[in-house]
Amino acid sequence: MKDVQPSRGPAMKSISEIIAYANRSFSNARGSHDWEHTQRVCNLCMVIGKAEGADLEVLQIAAYLHDVGRPYQDDSKGDVCHAEKGAEMATVLMEEYPISEDRKENIIHCILSHRFRGDRRPKTPEAKILFDADKLDAIGAVGIARAFLFAGEVGAKLHNPAINPEDTLPYTEDDTGYREFKLKLSKIKDRMLTAEGSRIAHERHAFMERFFERFLAEYEGTR
Ligand SMILES: [Fe+2]
Ligand SMILES: [Fe+2]
Repeated sequence: MKDVQPSRGPAMKSISEIIAYANRSFSNARGSHDWEHTQRVCNLCMVIGKAEGADLEVLQIAAYLHDVGRPYQDDSKGDVCHAEKGAEMATVLMEEYPISEDRKENIIHCILSHRFRGDRRPKTPEAKILFDADKLDAIGAVGIARAFLFAGEVGAKLHNPAINPEDTLPYTEDDTGYREFKLKLSKIKDRMLTAEGSRIAHERHAFMERFFERFLAEYEGTR
């Protein structure tokens, strides 16, 4: 297992150094949780951030760094929380970054609260936007594609119409894209924290409904 102590490394002084660092931290990541996810989350943050009038610099840095602790969580089989680890890493990385202390604090808060657990609720507009963008990447057309990619990683079948998804187990051949939709993705639209995030979530949800309605019909050969 990798070292799980706070990482000491060169302090970052520009956004390009932060992007390069974040990119490197995903060199061994799996397909459904990779650097491209971070880039999509960052793009969504910029779109929602503009609509919501947020601090875009804080949001961009937080988005690039939000999952840098992920390899530590994977290596520890879940013992290390990637949001806590990422916040620790970002605190060190931001030491010499030319931005005010309260904006640094906001960045750390965004990273820590993007994995909403217990009372670790996103409190600032930027933290709410990062939370929404991260969840939005799990739904819609990209969400469906990620769900089937993940199903492939765990060796799941394309579909199993004989079993109710509620009665199946994760990480088995029944951990299908449709199971992911029924048990998890279909509930995300009601968890959004910003108005623009909610609008995009409802649109993406409607597309998933249409997709799986057709998927099930094609599977049965009725369309
Ligand atoms: Fe995350
Ligand atoms: Fe993420």
